[in-house]
Order: sequence, then C-alpha cells, then structure tokens
Amino acid sequence: MENRAICQTQFGEAEPIEVLEFLQRPKPSATPGHAVVKLTARPITPLESFFIHSSFFAPLQKPVVLGSEGAGIVEEIGDNVTKSKAWGPSCGLDVSRVPGFSDEDASQMPINPATVYAMLKDLSVPKGDYLLQTAAASVLGRQLIQLAKHQGIKTINIVRRNEVKEELLALGADEVIDSSSEDVAARVKDITSDKLAYAAVDAVGGRLTKTVGESTRSGGVIYEYGSLSGTGEVVLGLSDLKRNVQLKFWSLFNNEASLIPERRQNIVAELIKLMQEKIITLPPPSKSYPLTEFRQALQHSEKVTGGAKILLI
Ligand SMILES: NC(=O)c1ccc[n+]([C@@H]2O[C@H](COP(=O)([O-])OP(=O)(O)OC[C@H]3O[C@@H](n4cnc5c(N)ncnc54)[C@H](OP(=O)(O)O)[C@@H]3O)[C@@H](O)[C@H]2O)c1
Repeated sequence: MENRAICQTQFGEAEPIEVLEFLQRPKPSATPGHAVVKLTARPITPLESFFIHSSFFAPLQKPVVLGSEGAGIVEEIGDNVTKSKAWGPSCGLDVSRVPGFSDEDASQMPINPATVYAMLKDLSVPKGDYLLQTAAASVLGRQLIQLAKHQGIKTINIVRRNEVKEELLALGADEVIDSSSEDVAARVKDITSDKLAYAAVDAVGGRLTKTVGESTRSGGVIYEYGSLSGTGEVVLGLSDLKRNVQLKFWSLFNNEASLIPERRQNIVAELIKLMQEKIITLPPPSKSYPLTEFRQALQHSEKVTGGAKILLI
C-alpha cells in the first residue's frame, strides 16, 4: 500500500500553501490494539486552518501529518482488537464502523456532530429556554440548530449574511439575527422579554463576544469553541463580568465526556441513530478534490460559504 500524506514542514509566519507538502511516508502496520485504515474521504475544516496558522503542532517532530477526521476502509487489524472504539479527534484517530453512510457523509461525522452533542449535554439548557450561538451558518451551527430543536431548546442564531436566514429558519432555528445589519443585543432582549439567553456558544470571538456577553443572562455561561474572527482574542464587557457572565474555553479534545472511552461509545451510538433518523444532517460536499490537488482545495475551502465542506478524496 502506498502511503502519502499532506504534511506541515515549516512553522511560523508563512502561508499554509507554502508550509504544506505532499510526502511519501513510511507504510504503517497494525500494531497491537490498532488498525490501519486507508482513507477515502476527508473534509477540510477550520480546525486545519487553525492548526496551520497557529503553529499548533510546532513542538512535534517535523513533518507533521495533517487531518482531523475522515472515512476509509480498514485494511489491517492488529492483535487484541476486539471491537471498534469510538471515533475521536485528530492524531491517533479512533475508528468506528458507520454502516449505511456514504464515504462523504461518514468523513464528516466524527467532529462536528460530536461537538454539538457534547456541548448541549454540558450546557444543560432547560427545555423552552434560549441558547444563543454565533457563526450559525457554519456546518456545526446548522447541526446545533437541528439537535437543539429535537431536544426542545430554542435557538437564537447570529449570522453575518442576511441571505442565510430563511435556510436556518427552515432547519428549525427559532430566531436568526444578522450582525451586519441588526442590533444583536437589542433583538435578544426583545426576543427573550429581557430574560436574555440562558447560555451561549461562540465560534467567532473578537468583539462579537462582547455582544454575546451582553445578550447572556446573569450567571450564564458562554462556551468559546472557535476563533473564526482570526483575532485569537475575545472581548467581554466589565458590566457583564460583574453580572457573573462566565466565559469558558470548550473543546471536544479535552472534553470529559468525549475522552472517557465508554462514554464516547455511547455518544457515537447515539449520534449514528440521530443521523440515521436525519435529526442531524450532513451537507453534501460543495466540491471534492483529489488529494494531489490539496493546495487548490485549501484555497477553495477558505472561500466556501453556505454550510458545506470541501473534501479531499
Ligand atoms: N472546539 C471544538 O472542539 C470544535 C470542534 C469542531 C468545530 N469547531 C469550530 O467550530 C467552527 C465551525 O466549524 P465548521 O466545521 O462548522 O465550519 P464551516 O462550516 O467550514 O464554517 C465556517 C462558517 O462560519 C461562518 N463564519 C466564518 N467566519 C465568520 C465570522 N468571522 N463571523 C461569523 N461567521 C463566520 C461562515 O458563514 P458564511 O456562510 O456567512 O460565510 C462559514 O460558513 C470553527 O471555528 C471550528 O474550528 C470547534
């Protein structure tokens, strides 16, 4: 089996296109407790951009193989592999059987749906209360709308383009606010009759977080789980701090529920059911590129809008 991978070979200021190479790698073999999987499809996610831009893997030995999730065929199974474990993040990917799904769908199942599921579980928003989210037009944002609706939680969704409002309402969003043309805090006050959102999840950061803080109830929690603003910073108003609005970093990669193998298995089983029942849906990819054209794919992925992924096949 030929083994090639997209690798990050330099860290620092250079653009992703300059720091990535398609390299021949040693062929892996299935050591005890492990399987060798030949990947057939992988989405490019904002996580990849974050890893590359932030030199996240700089402490590791170069070259670093990139990629956070994917679908493929198990080619070899090591000794002592008695069952498939739950899926999981990035390097040292866990493996899960996903019968009945296309490779395109299966490749997008490990991270976003699990993140939505685990965030909602951790937040415990009471039925009928409002959860506020930013970047609601993202793939993850759309899945959050779907699962929250299924659980009886109302959503207020912040987007940056008016055109996506109807799509999100059709998915089950209760309210959609366009931050480029509306006063978000005033609208949230109005929608909630001054109670404000019970809790919030924010993938944008920067100054938008200040607005999210103003729109979250006293003592309410905001999960910061992304940095799409690219600032690497969050702003929170002093008066909201005084109201005990709590800002917490949240990641699937250090989330207790997703790190305990038994709980992960339960999450996976539940997610497969939710996706089979189409309660959470996976968008068809906006375009697929062969692995060798990863540079074009990466450039394209930075311009994609509308809740769909670029896949490498
Ligand atoms: N912490 C974790 O464990 C974890 C796990 C999974 C994902 N994430 C994060 O979740 C976020 C969404 O991931 P995804 O895979 O669903 O992304 P995606 O669909 O590829 O999304 C990007 C979308 O977000 C919107 N967006 C981008 N920049 C924005 C900005 N500055 N302000 C408002 N909206 C913006 C865009 O909406 P338009 O359509 O309007 O352009 C775009 O469609 C990412 O930040 C990712 O890193 C975190």
